Amino acid sequence: MNIIEIIEKKKYNQKLTKEEIDFFVNGVVDGDVADYQASALLMAICINGMDYEETYNLTMAMTHSGDMLDLKDIGRAVLDKHSTGGVGDKTTLIVGPIMAALGVPVGKMSGRGLGITGGTIDKLDTIPGFSSDVSTENFKNYLKTVGFVDAAQTLSLAPADKILYALRDVTGTVDSIPLISSSIMSKKLASGAGSIVLDVKCGSGAFMNDFDSAKLLAESMIETGKRAGKKMRAVITDMNEPLGYAVGNRLEVEEAVDFLKAVKQEPRLKRVVTVLCSEMYKLSDVYKGESDEAVAYLIEEKINSGAAYAKFTEFVNMQGGSLDSFADNDSYKENLINEGSLFKKELTADDITTIESSGAYMYEDLSAALFGNVSLRLGAGRLRKEDEIDPDAGIVFVKKSFEKIMPGETLMTLYSRDFERLNDAVAMVKDSLKLVSYDNESDKDIILTIL
Ligand code: URA
Repeated sequence: MNIIEIIEKKKYNQKLTKEEIDFFVNGVVDGDVADYQASALLMAICINGMDYEETYNLTMAMTHSGDMLDLKDIGRAVLDKHSTGGVGDKTTLIVGPIMAALGVPVGKMSGRGLGITGGTIDKLDTIPGFSSDVSTENFKNYLKTVGFVDAAQTLSLAPADKILYALRDVTGTVDSIPLISSSIMSKKLASGAGSIVLDVKCGSGAFMNDFDSAKLLAESMIETGKRAGKKMRAVITDMNEPLGYAVGNRLEVEEAVDFLKAVKQEPRLKRVVTVLCSEMYKLSDVYKGESDEAVAYLIEEKINSGAAYAKFTEFVNMQGGSLDSFADNDSYKENLINEGSLFKKELTADDITTIESSGAYMYEDLSAALFGNVSLRLGAGRLRKEDEIDPDAGIVFVKKSFEKIMPGETLMTLYSRDFERLNDAVAMVKDSLKLVSYDNESDKDIILTIL
């Protein structure tokens, strides 16, 4: 067997065997397969695709390329939740503590943000003292004691994915369903949970822009997970507008705190949180066949009783962090602004181009792609892996797409440590955002389907 034959086979759209896929992945990790050869095969896969069996074999080869966490000795069914990435997606910070409060252990490994997509570890890093560097022993201890742990993916987990992803990033081969599916699932399978709920984002702020490709990706990941003996569920959710009120790392933790304290809960975020928690609950070992309404009630009760926020605090403290500075979020930001280390700009309806209306307005399109890029410009995200981020930069929306807007009303506040970036971001919003006449039929369910 040699790599040139394998590349040629895929070039002619032939099915690769398990042995050929193992040969490729092992060769990538050992360095026996050169980057240009791996890139050629990735392009052939991108063009000709892979069936479920090939995708499963590729995923398993990548999963076994490094360490695998064995969570069997926890003695409980551990769950994992994964989002394919979006703008303003802070659901992990909310779902993890709710599930822990419900008695369902959630063990997660998360990544950092890249491009317009945020990453949970960047968000958690804005909590003073918080460490996402968790040993295997502590990962298991925290699962047993707190019931929720979130650690940064280590280099030893699915190393083949790191090499292949870096090549895909620079060879135009990211947007391939078998490659995305195997990349995500190899890390999920190596992290050891027995049940996985996937939040597959669909829309302008996501990898998958249309419903059909989001569904194909979800089905591919479900199939791989089931073949690997996992209990799987996928929820396809709309990502055409940012999720929740905040986009930006610390701002999103603030929103998660407000959500868990039941102070402020954006309706679409609440819907996504409830559905994800409900699907996770139904895969857990505490589920006793309760109705959907009863499960939704249990979830709501864990928030309203303060139990979910207490779990969040316990989780943060266990990983070395302190939420003291989150006790008064507004004065935290005002202090930074008064010190001159943070700049802020409020935009009102009068700043935005309006298409004439005699009464109320709404956004023509509160585009997740636009606000992902605005947030990137403000300094909240990174264009390249090595870029530094501004933890306090970002956007807080006062009005979302389903809300009525009156002339003069404040729409959003933009934050950045860099005045030039702030001005650029303001210009981006003013150039692209439009207000149109309000239409109360415009609100659509954020949950597109559950598989
Ligand atoms: N997230 C991943 O981990 N891999 C991909 O290929 C795409 C999104």
